[in-house]
Amino acid sequence: GLLTRTDPLLAESDRADLLAIGRRRRWPAGATLFSEGDRSTTVVLVLTGRVKVFSLTEQGGEVLLAIRGPGALLGEMSALDGAPRSASVSALEPLEAYVIGVAAFLDFLGSHPDAAVRIIRMIVSRLRDADRKRVEFGTYDALGRVALRLAELADRFGADADHGVRITLPLSQDELAAWTGSSRESVTKALRTLRRQGIIETSRRSVSVLDLDRLRDRAK
Ligand code: CMP
Repeated sequence: GLLTRTDPLLAESDRADLLAIGRRRRWPAGATLFSEGDRSTTVVLVLTGRVKVFSLTEQGGEVLLAIRGPGALLGEMSALDGAPRSASVSALEPLEAYVIGVAAFLDFLGSHPDAAVRIIRMIVSRLRDADRKRVEFGTYDALGRVALRLAELADRFGADADHGVRITLPLSQDELAAWTGSSRESVTKALRTLRRQGIIETSRRSVSVLDLDRLRDRAK
């Protein structure tokens, strides 16, 4: 649920074994780690910084699929099925990570069954989210969807402040629109409504949640 923070992906010793077969690498903010459609040669385990996972539409628009942060494993999908990269991944912030070759990663899974099960669990949880989103798109209005996404972001990435939870994500309203399956106009309207009701405060590229409980109410 919204209140549960996710456990670390890997147990400490498994994580150490995985890092041992990788090499450390940094990317500046804005750098592209993976491009959708490319052949896969590596997986990446994030140490610090956040990335966005997105897909480009035929019209050149960006559909935001996820934001992932420290502890996230990226590139596991094409490592596992051998198909091209399912999406593009770029750094939202300066990024520090470990890069592991696909063959070494698959060997690691073979020799670390607990880690393999945890990775399956992570993928299953994404499938659940994807199922839930399909249902939401059928049943929620734009305000509800924006409120739901913001509540999720506040829960996962927000730092507790004196009043409410501050989310500072370098995300534009266009990206939020793409992520909630709403038009830019309805996202702007939804943010204005939430602002007028004193539930959030906004600045150009950040949103502060003042009243997480009421935000969650709007998300129903
Ligand atoms: P891969 O397909 O190799 O390259 C793109 C990566 O983005 C993919 O592996 C996953 O690690 C990640 N990814 C793709 N779709 C999602 C999603 N819906 N949520 C989170 N991460 C994703």
